[in-house]
Amino acid sequence: MSYRCASCGYQSRKWMGFCPQCKIAEALEEVAGPTRRTPSATPVPLSKVGDSPPERLRIGISEFDRVLGGGLVAGGVILVGGEPGVGKSTLLSQVAGNLASQGAKVLIATAEESADQVGMRAERLGIKSDDILLLADGDVDVIIAAADQIRPDLLIVDSIQALAAAEVAAASGSVGQVRECSARLIRFAKDTGTATIVVGHITKDGSIAGPKLLEHMVDVVLYLEGETDRGYRTLHSLKNRFGATHLVGLFEMDEDGMAEVADPSAAFVADWQGTVAGTVVFPAISGKRSLLVEVQALVGKPVVTPQQLRRSVRGVEAARVHQLLAVLERHAMLRFSDREVYVSVVGGMRITEPAADLAIALALASSLTNRPLGRTAAWGEVGLTGELRNVPHDGRRSEEAARLGIKTSIHADLVSRRIESALAAAGLFDD
Ligand code: TYD
Ligand code: MG
Repeated sequence: MSYRCASCGYQSRKWMGFCPQCKIAEALEEVAGPTRRTPSATPVPLSKVGDSPPERLRIGISEFDRVLGGGLVAGGVILVGGEPGVGKSTLLSQVAGNLASQGAKVLIATAEESADQVGMRAERLGIKSDDILLLADGDVDVIIAAADQIRPDLLIVDSIQALAAAEVAAASGSVGQVRECSARLIRFAKDTGTATIVVGHITKDGSIAGPKLLEHMVDVVLYLEGETDRGYRTLHSLKNRFGATHLVGLFEMDEDGMAEVADPSAAFVADWQGTVAGTVVFPAISGKRSLLVEVQALVGKPVVTPQQLRRSVRGVEAARVHQLLAVLERHAMLRFSDREVYVSVVGGMRITEPAADLAIALALASSLTNRPLGRTAAWGEVGLTGELRNVPHDGRRSEEAARLGIKTSIHADLVSRRIESALAAAGLFDD
């Protein structure tokens, strides 16, 4: 209930004998509050929903399109996260270039670099088009206003950490700014159906408030990763409201930008012979594709003081490696507890499949015993009791290994589903 002065329009929550503004007595009148709308909506049958998949705008970089699930979706907001220098701006200039060459319009809003810097990079990459528009500005509303006028097929914002909304009294990159700027960009994308790619930086320890917070807000989360000392870069989908996740695209960074790697398996195992201890191939499954990756382990000499014990893991989850070490100690009598352990996936790939357990375990045991495995591929999930579980796609994994000339495969069904048997089959355990 509220009251309004019939004379001057002053509004008050409570009734008073006179209007405090124009001082006229008895002037406040009751105004009916907003009548509560009866909430109603008509649910639609599930069978009628989602018949037609969203229309896709193909970028024309097939690794990128594949990871997205077929291309860009109108109004879809994609976060491309990655450490500084990994190649986000480079890859996205190429995305812009490819779209423009098909006649699509792209607006690149750069809040980090000057227009000149972006222009020079594009020139180096041989990208030149009137359909790519550049805006060097860090004000989210300026960017949205420009996008509203231009209505590009794709809006690229580089990067979210460098944006600010004028009314938010916080520094660029702070949680408040990142959240507000993202919310405004997402609203614009949804209202206008503009496909949008937002760049987000993460640091080595993943500490920045940006992308983690953003992951919940956007439709698609892609991470661009790689070792800076190597040319390979992987683009993988962590979240995708329009398609499958955990898809991996592979690129190679050279002086002409990011090149797609047509046969990643061949690239990864090209120089690999399996003649040294501590290496084995894991046939990973990424969507419809199988991908051979090399898993390496190095187990050091026993150390005297526990403080010297280093454990370093790259490309797989550290917790899984620790669990595998415990299982190997317990069920295969292999002693790692006083040794340094390094595990790494070659080429900067990141593996989330539990199916990689056996490959990691074999690489560890091979390094510890100093016995090479030869050209061997392995897969299977290792349980805490030393059981080896079947994982999906035996056939595809074997085929991919065989295609690259790897004839020996070790997996659960071949070794009576025990880790000891798998080690014995690999010549690493004398039972
Ligand atoms: P950049 O795309 O700026 O990374 P990000 O936006 O993720 O911070 O790329 C940075 C690095 O890439 C830089 O060290 C130079 C290198 N680079 C190439 O190797 N080849 C190229 O064609 C380009 C444009 C950059
Ligand atoms: Mg950049």
